[in-house]
Amino acid sequence: MPNSTSASTHTPVLLSETLKAMAVLPGGRYIDCTLGSAGHAASIMEHASPGGQLLGIDADPNAIEIARKKLDAYRDAVLLVNDNFANLQAICIKHDFFPVHGILLDLGLSSMQLDTSHRGFSFQKDEPLDMRFNPEQKITAADIVNTSPEERLANIIYTYGEEIHSRKIAREIINNRPIATTLQLAQLIESAIGRRGKIHPATKTFQALRIAVNHELEHLETVLKQAVELLGYEGRLVVISYHSLEDRIVKQFMQKESRDCVCPPGTPVCVCGHTPSLRIINKKVIIPSDTEIDHNPRSRSAKLRTAERIITQGDSYATTEDHTFLTLAKSSGWRRPALLEKIRIVYLAA
Ligand SMILES: C[S@@+](CC[C@H](N)C(=O)[O-])C[C@H]1O[C@@H](n2cnc3c(N)ncnc32)[C@H](O)[C@@H]1O
Repeated sequence: MPNSTSASTHTPVLLSETLKAMAVLPGGRYIDCTLGSAGHAASIMEHASPGGQLLGIDADPNAIEIARKKLDAYRDAVLLVNDNFANLQAICIKHDFFPVHGILLDLGLSSMQLDTSHRGFSFQKDEPLDMRFNPEQKITAADIVNTSPEERLANIIYTYGEEIHSRKIAREIINNRPIATTLQLAQLIESAIGRRGKIHPATKTFQALRIAVNHELEHLETVLKQAVELLGYEGRLVVISYHSLEDRIVKQFMQKESRDCVCPPGTPVCVCGHTPSLRIINKKVIIPSDTEIDHNPRSRSAKLRTAERIITQGDSYATTEDHTFLTLAKSSGWRRPALLEKIRIVYLAA
């Protein structure tokens, strides 16, 4: 979740670290899957100019409008799409936007959504229990809260909120339905489990509902797989996550994709035939400095992970000729758009 005190002062999280991790270069082609208020995207374009291109995606149509204004100076080089990033591959094929030098995922919700969307993301204000990134989507948080059986509700709160009091909270919800607003739900949770420490007792339940409404973890798993296939040689995948559930998915994905073998431990001879497609760039996760957290407290839980696309012999995307070219190119230190064109990945033929 990025940070800011208001929509107009939105502060992108780990900005310089992100640009470095993506290795943004003039003339490069980039995708921001979570455009938000275009804080990261504007900086990417600044560093990718002249000649850079950006595909920006967001599920929230308001974000697209805000970003469009912010990126106006680059309008001829920017393509903005209001869609779910789970459709990344289809979007890129439709707009002929691949391979790319870098893909960014800055997960969660924006300050704009939290502070001013009136969609019930925050329990600090009294708003309808909605929580949809895309207002066209059918199911809202109110639907989940008011129609789910007790056990499913408890499971959602436990699994997506890592809330140990999930059963108590689910029981209280069932006993007090229907629940229409954020404050109603927050107060009910507080009365069920009490308040200890600084963190509001509704924090985990609100996170759980938002994740469930937007299918956040499923979409993350989907986009990671697609992203790898859209990266050109040495293209960078950069993911900023804000809670352990997201970070675990990103970490495990990058680890698996960078391994030669993914056979179960103890398998005597490798039978998986797995080929690594990524190289992990920062083995140690990157987190915000104390200065950044002081300036932008919402950045405090951010974790940035980066991996780089590698293409190996036998990779379904690379022909033998490509592989020879890539080996030569790599040894001479090339990393530029023309190289990406040379290794164009033809999905449509697959
Ligand atoms: C943390 S904000 C991004 C902020 C942005 N990096 C900036 O600097 O302004 C996350 C954005 O991702 C969007 N988002 C979350 N899940 C999405 C999904 N599955 N598909 C598309 N957009 C999504 C949200 O609507 C939100 O605008």
